[in-house]
Amino acid sequence: MDFQLTEDQEFIRKAAREFAEKECRPTAAERDEHKTFPHEIVKKMGELGFMGVAIPEQYGGAGLDYVSYAIMIEELSRVDASIGVIASVNNSLVCAGIEKFGTEEQKQEILAPLASGARLGAFSLSEPGAGSDAAAQKTTAVADGDYFIINGTKNWVTNGSEADTILLMAMTDPDKGVKGITAFLIDTADAGCSVLKVEDKLGIRSAHSAQMSYDNYRVHKSRMLGAPGQGFKIAMTILNGGRIGIASQALGIAQGAYEAALEYAKIREQFGQAIINFEAVGFTLADMATRIKAARLLTYNAAWMKDSGQNYIAAASMAKLFASETAMWTATKAIQVHGSNGYSKEYPVERYFRDAKITEIYEGTSEIQRLVISREIAR
Ligand code: CAA
Repeated sequence: MDFQLTEDQEFIRKAAREFAEKECRPTAAERDEHKTFPHEIVKKMGELGFMGVAIPEQYGGAGLDYVSYAIMIEELSRVDASIGVIASVNNSLVCAGIEKFGTEEQKQEILAPLASGARLGAFSLSEPGAGSDAAAQKTTAVADGDYFIINGTKNWVTNGSEADTILLMAMTDPDKGVKGITAFLIDTADAGCSVLKVEDKLGIRSAHSAQMSYDNYRVHKSRMLGAPGQGFKIAMTILNGGRIGIASQALGIAQGAYEAALEYAKIREQFGQAIINFEAVGFTLADMATRIKAARLLTYNAAWMKDSGQNYIAAASMAKLFASETAMWTATKAIQVHGSNGYSKEYPVERYFRDAKITEIYEGTSEIQRLVISREIAR
């Protein structure tokens, strides 16, 4: 067993860390406060190859592996989880989906500009009545000659308000239920696609989550991703990879919160000494470091399983489940180590705490991850 990272993997960790420190950290708190979407940062990430890390170079990507992708999301999220999820959605929910299921024409025309960062992608499955029960799609796509007419409302579309392309699931044959769902590649510039609202959220506030409406939106059949009725399977397959991205995001949040707590515990003095010398604090930091290490091993292992062509469904869900719960636990404890200062916006840990929560919810709640794992181990 070889736990040594490759040269490429070490390189992307260094590049992503430097980028996060230099370009993201200085504005992270302010963007969070004002819900400011980081257009400039996203543009620069495109130039660095961060928007299509594991996509082949011929389709505009950086041509690296999924472990490299996980490391990049971890490093971005260590500083700013909003940046982490913007990149994660584009990389693993949109680019990876088109690369796996798209036609050559779709890869040339739609994937390449997304992977190079020239355009931004979003993924749209959730609806007002379809959260954990993702198959309960009410958005319809009705055939009309060479086109489909789409009507419906989609919720919680990360990047939705800023996206150029949306990978959208809609019901083409309601009688077939889960096998009547089809995936489409939507161009948001076309008439009939609009943003109803951008959510005012607890965390990841600099990343925008939109409610979107489709009102007689016409999409040509050449923009169908995969075959009719394959949409649910496509969405689930994409989410398996996406969950490694969210595990990486959670890992980065945990690491950032831990580092802040460690630094604070070394300089904060009470009862005449640095608080790290008190067992209650030192042991808390030891538990943080241990859980983070376990989350990292699970996350990189799931990414490595994907890279090596193994069935990684359970591994991805285990990584997301454990890493997201580690992020929430670590961020909670990081505030405790800071005492009252942790409750103040003058210190970064309250942002890590607010950002951590969503990792236990989106791309499948912790309860859904347990469901997926239990089904997989029962096979
Ligand atoms: N990988 C591949 N295929 C899968 C799969 C997986 N993980 N899970 C299910 N499938 C396939 C099944 O094999 C089946 O296909 P076949 O009949 O061909 O075998 C088909 O999908 C239907 O499966 P189920 O009968 O298991 O479907 P279900 O209705 O019981 O639902 C579920 C399964 C696991 C609960 C699923 O609905 C689920 O994962 N729910 C959570 C949804 C979710 O993660 N939403 C996140 C939205 S995206 C987001 O968060 C926004 C963002 O922008 C970040």
